Amino acid sequence: MNSPVQVRNAEAAEIGWLARLWREGWVDAHLEIVPRELARARTLESFRERLANLVASVRVVGPSGAPLGFHIVKDDELYQLYVDAEARGSGVAAALVADAEKQIAAAGFETAWLACAIGNARAARFYEKCGWRRVGNMINVLEIPTGEFRLEVWRYEKSVAI
Ligand SMILES: CC(C)(COP(=O)(O)OP(=O)(O)OC[C@H]1O[C@@H](n2cnc3c(N)ncnc32)[C@H](O)[C@@H]1OP(=O)(O)O)[C@@H](O)C(=O)NCCC(=O)NCCS
Repeated sequence: MNSPVQVRNAEAAEIGWLARLWREGWVDAHLEIVPRELARARTLESFRERLANLVASVRVVGPSGAPLGFHIVKDDELYQLYVDAEARGSGVAAALVADAEKQIAAAGFETAWLACAIGNARAARFYEKCGWRRVGNMINVLEIPTGEFRLEVWRYEKSVAI
């Protein structure tokens, strides 16, 4: 289905804005449900560094310099999806997820997957509404500045075969 919401590549100058959006969305969704050690590692600077490394893969919705949300795909994984609190419930997230699915399908994968923190009920409801299915739990290996952090998560999958 075509979405009227335009999704575009992020600009390097948007990294600072996107890092704040990511940090705020991460706090909203995760602070209460993940271990303290992980929360301590998720500083604004850590999000800025990750975005600087990944900027070529970041897709956004919203005006230049002030995006409303973004996604990052890595191979067959919808690796990140964040929408500003003010733009939640507006269709921005649906446009982003559709764009991510299209990208994964175009790269030749039949099934897309993502990890969702156990207890992130809003995101879970959103993914299920978009046709994703929870297939079980898995251990996700997360990047933190001191190395890796292993977190049990819900694994979601969706068939994206064209
Ligand atoms: C996850 C996210 C991208 C979804 O986008 P969104 O615009 O909020 O999604 P929608 O509003 O279309 O859908 C959310 C659904 O959850 C429901 N919901 C809201 N709060 C909820 C809660 N606490 N528990 C369960 N469901 C909830 C909404 O009512 C809606 O369902 P409905 O359309 O059937 O009424 C967005 O909320 C976000 O960026 N969250 C913070 C970051 C995050 O969690 N990212 C995902 C990491 S895996």
